[in-house]
Amino acid sequence: MASEEYPGAEPFVPSPASLDACRLAVQACRGCDLFRDATQAVFGEGRDGARMVLVGEQPGDREDLAGHPFVGPAGRLLDDALEAAGVARDDVYLTNAVKHFRHEGTRGKQRIHKSPARWQVAACQPWLLTELDAVRPAVVVLLGATAGQAIYGPTFRVGATRGTAVPWPTDRLSLAEPPVCVPTVHPSAVIRSRTRDADFAALVADLDVAAGLAPR
Ligand code: URA
Ligand code: SF4
Repeated sequence: MASEEYPGAEPFVPSPASLDACRLAVQACRGCDLFRDATQAVFGEGRDGARMVLVGEQPGDREDLAGHPFVGPAGRLLDDALEAAGVARDDVYLTNAVKHFRHEGTRGKQRIHKSPARWQVAACQPWLLTELDAVRPAVVVLLGATAGQAIYGPTFRVGATRGTAVPWPTDRLSLAEPPVCVPTVHPSAVIRSRTRDADFAALVADLDVAAGLAPR
């Protein structure tokens, strides 16, 4: 849990919190225990002033080694889905709810992903809010339950609201100019799905909705 040892990210966020300053500072974050077993923190990347931000869960094995978000298999599927929705990857900003890779065990050379715990998602939230405050997007695509929980709290599920515009939770979180959120599934879930083509099409349809809410 958040404790004296692990105070959450807030004390590590620089002021002023420009994206460049944060990208450096996040490497020194000790806000939770996840920095211990990770190679490096993986901060968000993309266009400054992007109209659309996409939020994943946490870096994966490949992202942890490369230091960039969505460069592994999930990133490739996301690229394909963005392209099918007519959205250029260069036009968006991509990040994750949690900035260090949580893993447990290995399969061959690959470390096996483990979803971050509730308290770790909460601990890392200041980085995500700082990114959103700096980029000021019109729409935030929440890729899966962890991203949704980072904004709406631990009971959030991707269900009835998927592919719809959900208001920013001003009762919970303040942001100078809040975006609307569009929940959808995580690209890794599409990769694992037995109905992959249909799930891919549904992801593209959700991204289409988001693109319509974020005209360039
Ligand atoms: N999965 C995520 O949620 N984020 C990444 O950056 C890569 C895989
Ligand atoms: Fe800090 Fe987030 Fe990494 Fe935890 S996961 S150490 S809060 S950057």
